[in-house]
Amino acid sequence: MEQKLKVGILGATGMVGQRFISLLENHPWFEVVKVAASPRSAGKTYEEAVGGRWKMDTPMPEAVKKLVVANVNEVEKVAADVDFVFSAVDMTKDEIRAIEEAYAKTETPVVSNNSAHRWTKDVPMVVPEINAAHFELINDQKKRLGTTRGFIAVKPNCSIQSYTPCLAAWKEFGPKEVVATTYQAISGAGKTFKDWPEMVENIIPYIGGEEEKSEQEPLRVLGTYENGQITLAESPKITCQCLRVPVLNGHTAAVFINFEKKPTKEQLIEKLVNFKGFPQEAELPSAPKQFIQYLEEDNRPQVKMDVDYENGMGVSIGRLREDSMFDYKFVGLSHNTVRGAAGGAVLCAEALTAKGYIQAK
Ligand SMILES: NC(=O)c1ccc[n+]([C@@H]2O[C@H](COP(=O)([O-])OP(=O)(O)OC[C@H]3O[C@@H](n4cnc5c(N)ncnc54)[C@H](OP(=O)(O)O)[C@@H]3O)[C@@H](O)[C@H]2O)c1
Repeated sequence: MEQKLKVGILGATGMVGQRFISLLENHPWFEVVKVAASPRSAGKTYEEAVGGRWKMDTPMPEAVKKLVVANVNEVEKVAADVDFVFSAVDMTKDEIRAIEEAYAKTETPVVSNNSAHRWTKDVPMVVPEINAAHFELINDQKKRLGTTRGFIAVKPNCSIQSYTPCLAAWKEFGPKEVVATTYQAISGAGKTFKDWPEMVENIIPYIGGEEEKSEQEPLRVLGTYENGQITLAESPKITCQCLRVPVLNGHTAAVFINFEKKPTKEQLIEKLVNFKGFPQEAELPSAPKQFIQYLEEDNRPQVKMDVDYENGMGVSIGRLREDSMFDYKFVGLSHNTVRGAAGGAVLCAEALTAKGYIQAK
C-alpha cells in the first residue's frame, strides 16, 4: 500500500482501545491519526488522558502519546481527519447504535468491537476466516444509510472464538448439539487484577448477557448470505455457561459435541489444522499463518503457554476425545482482547480493505 489509511479509534483510552493502539503500531496499511474518548478525556493528550490506566504489556507507542484526544460525540470533527474508524466505546447500546450510524453517514466506515449492531439485519458480523462473504451485506446497508462509502461492520463476541472456528471447520460432519462452558478472563470486562482485586482466587458464575451471545452469535456467523440477507444456521443447538475466572487474558471453553455423522478423531483434527479462509488466501498482515492449532499433550491448551499463539490471532484446541454421553469433547482457547476483540476487528478491516470496501477518502 503506497500511502497508509488514516485511522481513528473511538474509545481509544479504554482496554480495547489500548489494544487497538498497540496492534496498530507499525501496521503496514493503517496509521492511527485520531484518538477519541468521552468528554472526560477530550482536550488532554492521549498520554495524560490514559495516565496510570495503560494496561498493555508493551509501552505506549510514542506516536500516539501527544495526540490530543477528541470527544467521540463530535462526529464531523473526528470523521474529517480519518479514512475509517475502529469503535470500542463503552456507552449504552442505543447510544452506540446511534453514534456508529452517525459516523457511517459521514462516509466513514466503522469497524466495531461493540455488540450494539451485531443483530442489525444489514450489518455483517464477521470472523474473516469463517464468513468474509457476509461483507456483501454492506452494499445493502449503504442503500439504507444513503451512503457511498460509509458503513458499519462488526466482529462477534470474544467468548465464541474458542469454539466457533471448530464448528466451521467441522461443518461437513453436521455439528448438531453443543454444550459449552467458558472460563473467561478478567480483561474481557476491561479489568486487570489491580482494578479488580476481588477476582484474585475467585470465580464468578455470571457475566451479564454473555450466555445468550455465546449461544446465538455462532448461528449468525455460520449462517449463509443470499439475496441481501443472512439466513441463520439451523444447527447446532448451543447451550452455554459463562464463568469469570482469575485469568488476565484468554478465554477457555470446555465443549461437548454431537454430530449428524460421527467422524473419527483423526478426521476432526485434520479438518481443524487445515482450516483456512480469506485472510490466509489474501495473506492479510494480521492473519495467522495457521488459524487453528491442535495440541496433543493432555495438559494443553494452557492459558500461560498458548494464549499468544500466532500473536494472539490463532485458536488452540486440545483434549479432543470420545465421550460417554456425547460424540466428542474438547477444550479451546483464544485471546479475548486480540482475536476476540481488537485483533479480530483489525483483521476485519484488513479484509474490508483487500476487498475494496475501505479506501482512502
Ligand atoms: N474488553 C474486552 O475484551 C471486550 C471484548 C469485546 C467487546 N468489548 C466491548 O468493547 C467496548 C469497550 O470495552 P473496554 O473493555 O475497552 O471498556 P473500557 O476500558 O471501559 O473503555 C471504554 C471507552 O469508552 C469511552 N467512554 C466511556 N463512556 C463514554 C461516553 N459516555 N461517551 C464517549 N465515550 C465513552 C471511555 O473513555 P474515557 O476514558 O474518557 O472514559 C473509554 O475510551 C465495550 O462496549 C465492551 O463491551 C470488550
